[in-house]
Amino acid sequence: MRLLACALSVLLVSVLLVRSENVAPARAADKEPTKATPKPVPVNMHDFMEGMFQFPYKRLKTGMAAEPKDAAGWKAIRSDALILAEGGNLLLLRLPEKDADLWTKYSVDSRDAGADMVKAAKAKDFAGAKKAYELMLTHCNACHKKFEDGKHILTP
Ligand code: HEC
Repeated sequence: MRLLACALSVLLVSVLLVRSENVAPARAADKEPTKATPKPVPVNMHDFMEGMFQFPYKRLKTGMAAEPKDAAGWKAIRSDALILAEGGNLLLLRLPEKDADLWTKYSVDSRDAGADMVKAAKAKDFAGAKKAYELMLTHCNACHKKFEDGKHILTP
């Protein structure tokens, strides 16, 4: 009985060792500057949109309803516009199997309008920020129309 227990623990330890050897090189490669690449956090598209895009959008909707009165208001707008703009880059790491070219186009257009919004917000240019914001939403919606059968049509 003791012999069996002993044999089992030897087996368990060797299984653990083999597993950690398999995992370790991948992690190590990630830490080497020349080998590290962006790697999507494993969540499905629904959780990604909800987690990355929904809250900044909701805050912008309120924040852009009227011209911000102070620097803090502009800073909040800049931050959310930047999150959505960079979110466009992250969408490029999550291409669908079908119509990847359209997905790419909508992501890039949305990112670039978001970048214009960041720039206008930095200059505290409300008219410019609003124009870029509305344009960005048309690109968000273009993707929702194509890939979501027209669900989630967002309004400024
Ligand atoms: C390249 C395609 C694409 C672009 C660009 C895109 N989305 Fe989405 N979005 C999706 C998809 C696909 C879903 C549906 C996810 C699901 O529920 O499966 C979605 C869903 C959503 C939802 C609903 C989330 C929920 O909880 O139901 C919101 C809000 C949203 N997107 C905001 C945005 C905003 C804001 C932008 C632009 C700044 C944007 N999206 C740009 C693909 C896109």
